Amino acid sequence: MNGKKYSVVIAGGGSTFTPGFVLDLIKSQDKFPMRQLKFYDNDAERQKKIGEAVKIIMKERAPQIKFSYTTDPKEAFTDVDFVMGSIRVGKYHMRSLDEKIPLKYGVNGQETTGPGGMAYGLRSIPAIIQIIDWMQEYSPNAWMINYSNTIAIVAEACRRLRPNAKIINICDMPIDDMDRMAAICGLDSWHDIDFNYYGLNHFGWWKEVRNKKTGEDLMPKLKEYVKDHGYWVGGDYDKDTEPSWEATFKKVADDYKMDPETLPNNYMQYYYFPQYEVANADPKHTRTDEIREHRQKIVFGECERIVKAGTAKNNIWDISGLHSEYIVDIIHAIAYNTHEKFLANCPNNGAISNMDPDSIVEVPALFGADGIQPMATGKAGRFQRGLMMEQQTCEKLVVDAYVEHSYQKMLQAFALNKTVPDASVAKKILDDMIPVNAPYWPELK
Ligand code: NAD
Ligand code: G6P
Ligand code: MN
Repeated sequence: MNGKKYSVVIAGGGSTFTPGFVLDLIKSQDKFPMRQLKFYDNDAERQKKIGEAVKIIMKERAPQIKFSYTTDPKEAFTDVDFVMGSIRVGKYHMRSLDEKIPLKYGVNGQETTGPGGMAYGLRSIPAIIQIIDWMQEYSPNAWMINYSNTIAIVAEACRRLRPNAKIINICDMPIDDMDRMAAICGLDSWHDIDFNYYGLNHFGWWKEVRNKKTGEDLMPKLKEYVKDHGYWVGGDYDKDTEPSWEATFKKVADDYKMDPETLPNNYMQYYYFPQYEVANADPKHTRTDEIREHRQKIVFGECERIVKAGTAKNNIWDISGLHSEYIVDIIHAIAYNTHEKFLANCPNNGAISNMDPDSIVEVPALFGADGIQPMATGKAGRFQRGLMMEQQTCEKLVVDAYVEHSYQKMLQAFALNKTVPDASVAKKILDDMIPVNAPYWPELK
C-alpha cells in the first residue's frame, strides 16, 4: 500500500457489467482504496438507471467514496487514475444485427468473431480513440484498462493510431476457462493456476497448465477430462450458466481434438466448426435476445427496484464475479506495481517467436506501474500459426478499412475470414451491414 486513494471512471457507465464491477470495487477497498468513482456514457437515460441505483449502494456501503455520473467528457476524464473501458458502440441493437445478418447467409453470427466481430470492431475504433484522446488531455497520467470489444481490432487500431497511449486491452475469457480448469482439478480458483498461453484474442491455446503452489503439471488430468466434457463443470459450479454458454463449454471437447497437444480457448469453435454453429443457431433468437431476457433484465430490473425502495439492503444481485474481480486484480497490479502475470493483447515483438513483431497477440505479461511487459511464450505450432496468420490479417484489414475508408479492404477482411465460405457471401453480408452501420462506420468507398 502507498497511502494513495484512487479515482476511477467507468466509460460505459450504462453497461450491464457496471453494477457488478462497483460491488467488487466496494469489496476491495482494503486492497484498492478509492476516493472517487465516476461513470461516463453517451446514453444519459441508460446510464441514469444504473447511476441512481449505484448512488444508493455507494451511500450505504462506501460513503467515503465520492460518486457521480455524467455525459460530459471533461467532467468524466478530469482527475482520474484509471479509465475502465466498457462501451458497446451501437448497443445491443447493433449486436443483434451483427449476429443476425451473417446468419441470413448461412454464416456464423457472433459478437466478436466472423463478420459480426469485424463489424463491431470497426464501430469501436473511433469511440475508443476518442476516449484515449480525452484521457490524454484531461488526465495524462491515467491508465485505461479496456475490455470494450472487438479487442483484437481495437488493439491493432491503438498500435497504429495511438502507439504511446496508456491503454491495456484485456479479455476475461481465458480466466473463465482457467477457473473451470481449476474446478476440474479440485482447486479453488484460477488464482491457483500457473500457465503458458499464446494466441490472438478469442483465439488461443494453453501450452502449459500447472498447480501454482506445487508446480504439478495439470495437463494430463485436464486432457483426460476435456476430451469428453470440454470445460463444462456442471453441478453447483454451473448452476447459473445460461444455455448458450453451456453449449460453448461442452463444445470444447471437439475443439480440443483438433490439437491434443494444447488446450483451446473456447472461442475456437467458431473457427473450427462454423457450419455446426450455423446449424445450431436460431436466426430469430441469438445471444443478444438471451441477454435481453436474462442479464439485462436482471441488472436493470434490480436497479429499478433499488431506486424505488430507496435502499439496496436486500439487493439480490449476483452479477459480480470473475469478470470484475479480474479487472480489480489488474488495476491493483498497476497501482501497486506488483508485476503479477495476466494476459494482455499487445504487439508481439517476439513474444511468439514465429509471428511478426507487429502482430497483435494475446500472451502472458507482467503488469506494473509502467504498464505491461509481455513474456516469451515460445513457438506457435504450424496449425496454430496458419490459423493466426489468417485471422490477424482480417483484423489488420479492418483497421486498413477504417484508416483508408476502404470498401475493398473490408470486403477482403470478410472474404478471408475462416467463418466465411465464399467472397460472394462476404459481399452480401457487407452490403447488408453498411446501411445499418452508417451512424458508426466511416463511409466506405
Ligand atoms: P452494454 O450495451 O450493456 O453497455 C455498454 C454501454 O456503453 C451502454 O450503456 C452504451 O450506451 C455505452 N456506449 C456506447 N457507445 C459509447 C460511447 N461512444 N461512449 C460512451 N459510452 C458508450 O454492454 P455490455 O454487454 O455490458 O458490454 C460492455 C462492453 O464490455 C462490450 O464492449 C463487451 O463486448 C465488453 N466485454 C468484454 C469482455 C472482455 O473479455 N474483453 C468481457 C465482458 C464484456
Ligand atoms: C466473454 C468474452 C467477452 C465477451 C463476453 C460475451 O466474457 O471474453 O469478450 O464480450 O464473453 O458475453 P455475453 O454474455 O455478453 O454474450
Ligand atoms: Mn473477451
